[in-house]
Parts: sequence; structure tokens; C-alpha cells
Amino acid sequence: MIAIKKVLITGGAGFIGSNLARHLIGKGYQVTVLDNLQRKGSEINLKRMQKEFPKLAILKDDLDNADKIVQKLDVDAVYHFAAQVAVTKSYENPADDFRINAQGSFKVASAAGSRGIPVIYASTNKVYGDNVNDIELQELPTRWEFKGDLKGRGISESFSIDSKKHTPYGVSKLVGEMYVREFGGIANRFSCIYGENQFGDADQGWVSHFVFSKVRGIPITIYGDGKQVRDLLHIQDNVRLLEQEGLNAKKLKGEVFCVGGGHDNTISLLELCKMLDIKPKFADWRPADQKVYYSDITKASKMLNWKPEVSVKEGISRMSAWINKIVKEME
Ligand SMILES: NC(=O)c1ccc[n+]([C@@H]2O[C@H](COP(=O)([O-])OP(=O)(O)OC[C@H]3O[C@@H](n4cnc5c(N)ncnc54)[C@H](O)[C@@H]3O)[C@@H](O)[C@H]2O)c1
Repeated sequence: MIAIKKVLITGGAGFIGSNLARHLIGKGYQVTVLDNLQRKGSEINLKRMQKEFPKLAILKDDLDNADKIVQKLDVDAVYHFAAQVAVTKSYENPADDFRINAQGSFKVASAAGSRGIPVIYASTNKVYGDNVNDIELQELPTRWEFKGDLKGRGISESFSIDSKKHTPYGVSKLVGEMYVREFGGIANRFSCIYGENQFGDADQGWVSHFVFSKVRGIPITIYGDGKQVRDLLHIQDNVRLLEQEGLNAKKLKGEVFCVGGGHDNTISLLELCKMLDIKPKFADWRPADQKVYYSDITKASKMLNWKPEVSVKEGISRMSAWINKIVKEME
């Protein structure tokens, strides 16, 4: 283990970044947050953090300047989470998606790498693209499920990332992942992280989007049949893993991990609607949606002595309590 005490979190006002900032500050770390606050909700997260931690170092800046910032800053590790986060928006503006995700990650990874500072990166299941849609499926009453070897196990790090279409977001995040690993960092292919401080919308953060819509009485549209399956990982379990990765960064140089709740924490859109008592509307499938994706978390569990502890039921209940509170505060 290495002594990490000072960290930079890019995207530190976002969902995962702000939760990690809180977690690490609680453990005595010195945290600097870099964020341009482009995400709706990040300004609220930042204001609340400033209240809780008046001494928090904040850089309201863009990833465009990340190389210069990382070259100068006194830090032991960089958690790189700032990104264009939505597949939908990557189709609308692929150039912006490339600038932020591919070029921005290159800037962070190369500047940190040149100083021997480890970068811990948020990649995505979208790096597998349409390869996932080639897996044979079986249809169950409320969900799709893998058939064959992957059933119950899920997608591991060795699953193919090649040969198929990925979506522009999948490509830009994969490029970022490759640069980070090339320069000695660690990449996490997140499936679906959810929890408190997440301002989900129809483009990204579906669990949060569903709960916000329920609380506000706004109808939900499901694209496709609603039997799509994801594995959910509660943010509390996610930040525990991220801290371990920072501490073990030397040993984990260049590694990649599939990170999610695993098969035990899977849910379909229809099942979440039932849990929340939502009656959704339906529309056409969105391009490149994966019908089933869940992570094989064996590698992360073994190498980091980690496993998810918060069940989907418990996590949704905690998240709902937070959303009910924040919606009242925002009214
Ligand atoms: N939440 C998930 O389920 C999930 C799944 C897969 C991958 N990821 C990845 O995890 C990371 C964090 O996701 P999140 O859910 O916390 O999203 P988020 O949108 O809440 O956080 C991202 C933050 O980055 C900031 N940002 C965006 N562009 C920036 C730029 N050019 N310069 C500086 N700051 C910028 C935003 O303002 C926001 O605060 C992202 O890289 C995302 O691709 C998340």
C-alpha cells in the first residue's frame, strides 16, 4: 500500500466525484475538486460540499486545461471522473464527446503519467459495444437473461471490445481508458452506479431519473420493452472500492476492472417500475442499447478484497429518502 493523502478528483462536483470527495475527506485526505459544473445538479452538490467543508479546494475549470493543472498540482493520485456522460449526447455532438472524453483523458493521463502520479479512471460497460448484443438471450416474464456460460456470471474484463460498433461515447471512453492504462493508471468499467447526490435524467442515470420522476409526479418513458437488465452498485460500495484502488495503485498499474453490483444486484427497468409503483409509457428502442449487461466482479473482488454490501432494495430506499429531501429543498 502507498501513502496517499492528497488527491485531485476531476468531475468532483458530479455524482461519483462528490461522494468520493466526502468519503475521502472523512478519512483525512486532502481533496481538490476540478469541475466545470456543466452537469445539472453539480452546482447544488458543490454548494452543499462547500458548506460541509469550507476548506475544500475547488478549481472551477475545464478538462481542456487539465494538463497544465495536473502538471503543477501537489497530489499523490488523480481520480478522473469528469466526462461527457451520455450515449445520446455523443450522437448529437460527437466532436464535443471526443474533446472531453478522449482528449481530456489524454491530458489528465499523460500529465499525471509524466510525474508518476497514478490515475484512477471511470470507464464504462459501453466499451464492449454491440459485442454484448451478440450473446444469446432468453426471455423471462419481466427481464432478459443471458443463455449459456455467461448466465449468472456476467461480462468480465476479457470479453471482446473489438470488431463491433460502440457508440461515439463507447469509443471516446475506451480511448480514455487506454491512455490511462498506457500511462500507468487503473480503469474501472462501471455498469450502473446509483445513489445519493445523483441527478439522473433521461440521458444518463436511469435509476435516479426514475425516482426523481416518481417523486415529482412526472411520467416515465421506457425505450424498448423494459426487460433490459443492469447490475446496480450503490455509491457507498463504489467509493470503498475506489479508495482501495488508490491505496494499491502501484500494484495495480495498468489494470482494468469490471465494476458493478454483479448478478446478485441485477434489476430490469420493469422490475424497478414495479418496486416504485410507476406505470411507464413505452417508446422505440434507443440505438445500441444493451438488452442485458451485468458485470463479472470476480477480479475486483479477489484483487481488492471487496464485495458489494448494499442490496438493491436497501440502496433504492436510501436514494429515495435523499431524493424526497432534495426535491423539497429545491421547491
Ligand atoms: N454513474 C454511472 O452509472 C456511470 C456508469 C459508467 C461510467 N460512468 C463514468 O463515471 C464518471 C462519473 O459519472 P457520474 O455519474 O458521476 O456523472 P456526473 O455527470 O454526475 O459527473 C461528471 C462531472 O464532470 C463534470 N464535467 C463534465 N465535463 C467536464 C469538463 N469538460 N471539464 C470539467 N468538468 C466536467 C460535470 O459537471 C460533472 O460534475 C464519468 O466519467 C462517467 O462516464 C458513470
